Amino acid sequence: MKFFLDTANLDELRKAAAMGLVDGVTTNPSLVAKEKRDFHSLVREICEIVHGPVSAEVVATDYEGMLREGRILAKIHENVVVKIPMIAEGLRAIRTLESERIRVNCTLCFSANQCLLAAKAGASFVSPFIGRLDDAGHDGMDVIAQAMQINRNYDFQTQIIVASVRHPLHVVQAATIGAPIVTIPYKVFEALHQHPLTELGLARFLSDWEKAKPSK
Ligand code: E4P
Repeated sequence: MKFFLDTANLDELRKAAAMGLVDGVTTNPSLVAKEKRDFHSLVREICEIVHGPVSAEVVATDYEGMLREGRILAKIHENVVVKIPMIAEGLRAIRTLESERIRVNCTLCFSANQCLLAAKAGASFVSPFIGRLDDAGHDGMDVIAQAMQINRNYDFQTQIIVASVRHPLHVVQAATIGAPIVTIPYKVFEALHQHPLTELGLARFLSDWEKAKPSK
C-alpha cells in the first residue's frame, strides 16, 4: 500500500519524509491557501522533498482553462500530477492532458460512477473523498470497494487514492480491502505508529534496565 501525505506544509512533509514512508503528496487549493506562498514555487519545493507523484490542482473550471493551468503545472516537475475536478469539462480535460502524457488525478469524486467515468477518461489516478461522504451520512469505504471492483472487472489502470481520510481507522479499513493508495493528513499519519501500550512498555523496559545495571 502506498502512503501519500495530504498536505502542502513543508515542515510536515519533511518530518514525514524523514520516516521513509511517504510515497507521494496530494495538495488542494484549500491546503495551498493555508501556506500563504507562491503556488508554483511551493509545488517545486514539495517535489524536491518527496520523490513520488505530487498532485497540484487547477482552479479553472472550463476546458481550455484547465488545459492551460494543467500544462503549466506539469512543467514544474516531472512528478507533478494535475488534479482536475470531476465535472463534464474536467472529463474532457483529463482525456486531452493524458494524451499529452500529463498524468491526471481526478478529484472530488463521491460515487462509484464518477470513479468509472474518471477511469474511462483515462485518468492515472482518481480520488474518492471518503471522510466527506461519512460526514454526510454515507459509508465512504463502500465507494472505494465498488471502484476497486469496477477496475478489476474492466482492467482499468486508474489508481484509486483513498482521500479525505479523517482517522487511523480509515487507513486500516482501506488496507483491509486492499486499496492501493491512501492519502493521509499529517495528524493522522503521526497517529499511525502510536499506541499507549507501546509507550508504557518501553518506559517499563527502560526502567527495569536501569535498575538491573551493575553499579560502578
Ligand atoms: C485529496 O486529494 C484531498 O486533498 C483531501 O483528501 C480532501 O480532504 P478533506 O475532506 O479533509 O478536505
